[in-house]
Amino acid sequence: MSGERPARVGLIGGGVIGGGWAARFCLAGSDVTVFDPDPEAERKLAEVFANARRALAGLHPDSRPAEGQLRVVTRLEDALDGAGFVQESLPEQEDLKIRVLAAADALLPPEVVIGSSTSGLLPTRLQSAMKHPERLTVGHPFNPVYLLPLVELCGGEKTAAETIGLASTIYESVGMHPLHVRHEIDGFIADRLLEAVWREALHMINDGVATVEEIDRAIHMGPGLRWSLMGTFLIYRVAGGEAGMRHFMSQFGPALKLPWTKLEAPELTDELLNRIVDQSDAQAGEASIRELEQLRDDGLVAILSALRDMDHGAGRYLPPSA
Ligand SMILES: NC(=O)c1ccc[n+]([C@@H]2O[C@H](COP(=O)([O-])OP(=O)(O)OC[C@H]3O[C@@H](n4cnc5c(N)ncnc54)[C@H](O)[C@@H]3O)[C@@H](O)[C@H]2O)c1
Repeated sequence: MSGERPARVGLIGGGVIGGGWAARFCLAGSDVTVFDPDPEAERKLAEVFANARRALAGLHPDSRPAEGQLRVVTRLEDALDGAGFVQESLPEQEDLKIRVLAAADALLPPEVVIGSSTSGLLPTRLQSAMKHPERLTVGHPFNPVYLLPLVELCGGEKTAAETIGLASTIYESVGMHPLHVRHEIDGFIADRLLEAVWREALHMINDGVATVEEIDRAIHMGPGLRWSLMGTFLIYRVAGGEAGMRHFMSQFGPALKLPWTKLEAPELTDELLNRIVDQSDAQAGEASIRELEQLRDDGLVAILSALRDMDHGAGRYLPPSA
């Protein structure tokens, strides 16, 4: 097994996340073959690639690697043929993933590592029908995969330690930051945190105390700006002032018992869903998804460039330049 950037990558599923993986590897120089039965897959991938090229041109104006070749196929075996690494990004359905991962496992030489993009399904379940379960790891990325460096690695009961090591070096070879989730837990680390924020947001909409737009402003006008520089713990250490973390904990810790937050998610009733969708439509106005992606990407490129200048955090993990 080799942990260098694979010359050829096989992708299973080419939607939002599979498209992001395709751009991440292809724009770093790997040849990528995507298996996706969607007749619109080629058009959607071309649009993701257009935005990814635009973003990477902002990040590396003078020195981008020669792109690999992108192919879209409708047979699994054609996507896996000659692949040195495989990433699965199927819809989040356990049965489907188990079935297709077992089929891919039967077609691939045993040394090829398979990463799964699942947002929270357990790898022990995903590898349960594989003949070579040791080669599977969760490799959970963040959207847009072609810009954000974080990828959470989580092995199942039968995953080999070597697989985690190899997958780490493969993801690093395309500029990513692997975070090893050492315990197999539902939702891994980042989605547990994100779900807590999301659940509270849904409660506030359900209770009619804030709109989609107000909640988003509460994030991106304040705490969201800090999160690209420091995580919750370093931010709260600083917030404790000279008295430090112990002081911060004693000042704000008791509020955790009040509690401000609600642990049970609200029921996703039709009324709540309609309220969210209507408010989200009003918030987005005329902007298309591709335009919103460009707005997001322009901001991320600016932030990543600033972090690169500071030699800090995510600025140390960028898609490769030439
Ligand atoms: N969207 C996100 O922000 C995000 C972030 C991290 C991880 N994930 C995870 O990534 C995975 C994919 O999510 P997504 O958002 O890209 O979903 P998506 O619906 O955009 O894409 C899924 C793709 O899989 C294709 N597909 C369906 N059945 C297939 C089959 N049998 N064989 C091959 N392809 C098939 C679909 O045509 C579609 O293009 C999920 O496991 C999800 O949890 C999503």
